[in-house]
Amino acid sequence: MDNAVCRLTGCEFPLFAFSHCRDVVVAVSKAGGFGVLGATAFTPARLEEELTWIDEHIDGAPYGVDVLVPEVVDPRVAEFADNRQRAEAISPQHRAFTANLLGEYGVAVRPEDVVRSEGTSGITPENGYAQMEVAFRHPIRLIANALGIAPAAMIAEGKRRGIPVAALVGAKEHALRQAAAGVDIIVAQGGEAGGHCGEVSTLVLIPEVVRALKETGQDIPVLAAGGIMTGAQMAAMMVAGAQGAWTGSVWLATTESETSEAFREKMVQARSRDTVRSRSRTGKPARQLKTAWHEAWDGEGSPGALPMPLMGMVSEPAFQRIENAVINGNEQARDLVSYFVGQGVGLVDQVRSARGVVQDFRQEFAESVLGLTAMLE
Ligand SMILES: Cc1cc2nc3c(=O)[nH]c(=O)nc-3n(C[C@H](O)[C@H](O)[C@H](O)COP(=O)(O)O)c2cc1C
Repeated sequence: MDNAVCRLTGCEFPLFAFSHCRDVVVAVSKAGGFGVLGATAFTPARLEEELTWIDEHIDGAPYGVDVLVPEVVDPRVAEFADNRQRAEAISPQHRAFTANLLGEYGVAVRPEDVVRSEGTSGITPENGYAQMEVAFRHPIRLIANALGIAPAAMIAEGKRRGIPVAALVGAKEHALRQAAAGVDIIVAQGGEAGGHCGEVSTLVLIPEVVRALKETGQDIPVLAAGGIMTGAQMAAMMVAGAQGAWTGSVWLATTESETSEAFREKMVQARSRDTVRSRSRTGKPARQLKTAWHEAWDGEGSPGALPMPLMGMVSEPAFQRIENAVINGNEQARDLVSYFVGQGVGLVDQVRSARGVVQDFRQEFAESVLGLTAMLE
């Protein structure tokens, strides 16, 4: 295929796969799509290892990195310089609530052990910037940022090195701000997406963003994100003006993905109504599989979600403990198992290989386009 996005990034077929798993990134890029490694969960040192591994295994195929440098830091946490200071700000009430909730499902943890404060990981400005520096040391063909305007340093460095900068947006106004800041690709992500998302649906957002960019004379390609699980949906979004698809959830149900057996089973069972947009995992609204965790945190008696990044310092170790408990035979803990996933989860009916998913997308895409064309004859 040939369009502006393919030329900018070097991909053959503009199917972008966001994943925290290096094996997915490599498999997708080698199959002609474009793998994007989500860096958030890694320390800069670990990201360096992951990218070195990708460079050694990807056979020169193009790939990208997604970092999160939040534009706006919540005033409640702005004064903290590191994770130790942030941990100290997490109240005994939040610690006790988490320990009690896990305890109800047979996952034992003392309130004083609920929070993880070691290291530099997490969605913090210092981690985001350090990850960006690591990413630029590798032969990436795209760097992406979410949660606000891409930092000026990212845009400047991208231009200097000829690496396109992509930004995720959930509203037309945000797309226009990103365009004015100088990003090269807009990823317009609808509210059905897994992870942090807005409220406008993909079907409405794509033509809205494409039209707004055109009207303001900005020749910036748009990728469609949110709910895209098939090649037919990708074709539909391209008919609506997008130049490709940016996907996340569909890769969670692949054999290579980082997800646990328990979560994959839940994905296959889940309906599209089984997700929730909740602050209870990161502190900002993010779509995830709804479980007893969300009912508790979003329900009565909850101390309320903490601001980002404090909420993640409570939730991430908790979900690790939940997964470990399930592996060790605690069946009750399965009720709490959750992860970021979009409404497209209702379309997941099996676990496939990442390469197989790319091949299916290509085939469905071609069939859809041919089918539409045939209708005109
Ligand atoms: C498990 C998971 C984690 C995600 N984490 C991030 C992230 O760290 N940074 C980011 O820009 N987008 C993140 N996203 C959003 C994806 O980049 C993508 O926009 C979204 O998954 C598209 O919608 P879909 O899930 O319906 O395919 C995440 C999505 C998922 C499913």
